[in-house]
Order: sequence, then structure tokens, then C-alpha cells
Amino acid sequence: MTNQTADLDWRDGRVPISTQFDDPYYSLDNGLAETRHVFLDGNDLPARFVGDFQIAELGFGTGLNLLVTWALWDQAGRPGRLKFTSFEAFPMEVEDMRTALKHFPEVAEFAACLLAHWVPGAGPTQLPDGPILDVIIGDARQTVPAWDNAADAWFLDGFSPAKNPELWGTDLMRAVGEHTRPGGTAATYSAAGHVRQSLALAGFTVNRTPGFGRKRHMTQARMPNAE
Ligand SMILES: C[S@@+](CC[C@H](N)C(=O)[O-])C[C@H]1O[C@@H](n2cnc3c(N)ncnc32)[C@H](O)[C@@H]1O
Repeated sequence: MTNQTADLDWRDGRVPISTQFDDPYYSLDNGLAETRHVFLDGNDLPARFVGDFQIAELGFGTGLNLLVTWALWDQAGRPGRLKFTSFEAFPMEVEDMRTALKHFPEVAEFAACLLAHWVPGAGPTQLPDGPILDVIIGDARQTVPAWDNAADAWFLDGFSPAKNPELWGTDLMRAVGEHTRPGGTAATYSAAGHVRQSLALAGFTVNRTPGFGRKRHMTQARMPNAE
């Protein structure tokens, strides 16, 4: 897989749909509320924002998950540094990100800052008054195992497992587990049995919990604390 950019269609000129994966980047109904429910609540955030905190994500897409996280971090007003590392194979063009993100006025100030600094693959970048953002370009099946850090919380946000199986396989979930701190967590909107099983094989304790909107269930996973 070489570095390519994302090919998009738009639903109502508003929600980007990947033509490659035939799937939307987030809920057609309310992407921001979905992010809060699945990835923030699903990882018990912002309650766990105490001191420095490392988030890792599969699939940066528009950056919406980053922006919603940043807004909650900002509101929480706790000391410490937020690091947000995302693994992305097909970075979006900045103008496509702008088109998508303008529909989320709640995070407009953070979006403006992200878009002003968006350079795919630039390496760790301190966003002004914000997180240190590192979007690692390439196929996550290679880039996650090679990552030299570990996360307190993972956002597992590939396209649906049926359409994007590359981001949900057992080997990648094992790499996610190996790059999770003791007591760390992972969350995803998917409740597919094989995803939960792969997370369990990776060492997580896995729970099926109420999903967002029309999705009945989602998945929350936690690594045991250190002995
Ligand atoms: C559902 S979208 C993520 C939405 C995103 N979190 C947001 O806030 O907009 C899934 C993302 O996974 C990326 N992706 C798909 N296959 C991948 C792979 N093998 N490695 C890394 N990223 C991949 C896609 O390019 C896409 O950006």
C-alpha cells in the first residue's frame, strides 16, 4: 500500500463517504455526538484526564475525533500534556477536511487551528494551546507494530469491519494491545464478534455496551492494571 489520498463522495454535501471503502467517515446523523459517546465516554474520558495522557487512533480521517477530544481536554482544564497519535493510510486533502468540519461549529476554533497546521506526516506537532498531534502515514498493520510508544486510550475507528477488514485483524489488535499501557482502554463503535474476540486475545477485558444512535451495541476494552 503506497501513500495515497482519500477519494470521496459527499452525503448532502456534508458527510464524506469513502469511495474506496464505500462507507461514511462518521454517523450520518450526528458525527460529533457519536464521537463523544463511543470514543470519549467509551474510554471514560474526560474523567481520566489526569496528568499527561496519550491517545492513539486507527484512522484520522477528518480529524473530528481529535477536535472533540481537544475541546473536552480544554474544558477539563487539567494540568498535563495531551498527545494524540493517529495512524492513517489515506490522508484527506485539507480542503476536504475543511468542507467536512465546517458542519461542526462547536469545535470551529479547534478546527481552524488544526487546518492551519495540517501537514500529513509532519511528525509530532505541538498545536498552539492544544495537543501534540502525530499523524503517522502508512498502513496501520505496519505502522502500529513499529510505534515506539503506548497509549492510555485507543480509538479504534476504521471503516466497518466488513468493508475495511485490514484495520480489525487479530495481528493488528495484538499490536494495539502491546501498545497499551497497564490499565489502558480501547473503544470502538463496532460490536462484531470477531473484533471482540481479537481484543480479548490481545489481553483486554472486553465488554459490549449500548451503542450510538441506531447501533445497538459498541465495544469497550480494558487492559489489566500492572501487578
Ligand atoms: C471511519 S474513518 C475514520 C474517521 C475519523 N476518525 C474522523 O474523525 O474523521 C476510517 C479511516 O481509516 C483509514 N484507513 C483505512 N484503512 C487503513 C489502513 N490499513 N491503515 C491506516 N488507516 C486506514 C481511512 O483512510 C479512514 O481515514
